[in-house]
Amino acid sequence: MLDRLYWTRNTRQVLDHGSSTKAVVSNELQLEEAVNHLRNGALVAFPTETVYGLGADARSESALAKLFQVKGRPTDHPVIVHLASPDWISRWALPDPRAVLLAERFWPGPLTLILQRKPGVLDAVTGGQDTVGLRMPDHPLALRLLTLFGDGLAAPSANRFGKVSPTRAQHVVRDLGEEVALVLDGGPCSVGVESTILDLTSQEAKILRPGGVTAQQLNQVLHGIDYGSTGVRAPGTLASHYAPTTRCELIAKSQLSRRLQEIDVSKTAVWSFEPPPGPAHWLPAAGDPKIYARDLYYNLRELDQSGYELILIEEPPDGEEWLACRDRLNRATA
Ligand code: TXA
Ligand code: MG
Repeated sequence: MLDRLYWTRNTRQVLDHGSSTKAVVSNELQLEEAVNHLRNGALVAFPTETVYGLGADARSESALAKLFQVKGRPTDHPVIVHLASPDWISRWALPDPRAVLLAERFWPGPLTLILQRKPGVLDAVTGGQDTVGLRMPDHPLALRLLTLFGDGLAAPSANRFGKVSPTRAQHVVRDLGEEVALVLDGGPCSVGVESTILDLTSQEAKILRPGGVTAQQLNQVLHGIDYGSTGVRAPGTLASHYAPTTRCELIAKSQLSRRLQEIDVSKTAVWSFEPPPGPAHWLPAAGDPKIYARDLYYNLRELDQSGYELILIEEPPDGEEWLACRDRLNRATA
């Protein structure tokens, strides 16, 4: 159980988990193959700094239909279009000077901008709304792929709808292996939680999903960010999401001892900052919010697969730097 909690980087390994899809460490040949698949309407999973994305040609109705089908995602949920350059924004969205400033400061990086869509952007991308989500990911492989492809790739996280997001190529192969033409292996994701989503469709910018870029950072560029709900549909922000199969409870440190007395500790794992009392299996939580975020989905997946009946997760501390982690854990345990 839990013998590989910390990742290692496979640099030249070709992974084959018995499915027809291989996760490959990419060279130019494989990138060309990936682009060919995308042009033919197939799906290619690729690494980003946040999580692995399931890529499809964002201009192709049939590729998008396949994307929604494979993910098991309701069709009114919009997808983020990934770009190789801020210069591509104007192909997808109406001009907004705030987007230029934000892209200059935070792209490539974990920030998605919601803007008014340009005419012609497919309803499958926008969920039928007048807006489109755009992001330039900070991963060399993703950027090479996008540059070679030459236009936007729709890419939700490469997991089935409502399940735990993937931060390793192996996670994608395991979850979607049969249905993806190719999984590009760019190693473990460095940020580990999805991008911050910032809605710029009204006067006030509003954060729809906390992520790798914090409100404080955004405030250095824009003043007056609102955290409130907006009436804008960002359905990935459902109360229950990112959910493991094993029962998970998010619990305050002060409640942990009492909870451990009520349950069968031999079938319980505890993910906490300090060792729990008694014999439950302990997964130490990282004190650094960046490390915690980087390993969050990896740890959830490992715990989920280790045969426990219950996973107790200590609530991360308050504070903005923990916001994205608290958000994902709240949804995973909802
Ligand atoms: O970090 C990320 O953003 C990752 C990587 C792969 O780039 N992608 C990702 O995609 O998390 P996905 O589909 O799992 O989550 C995208 C979120 C959803 O909550 C979706 O509703 C929201 O973005 N979204 C996309 N376009 C939108 C729009 N036009 N208006 C409001 N929300 C939008
Ligand atoms: Mg997702």
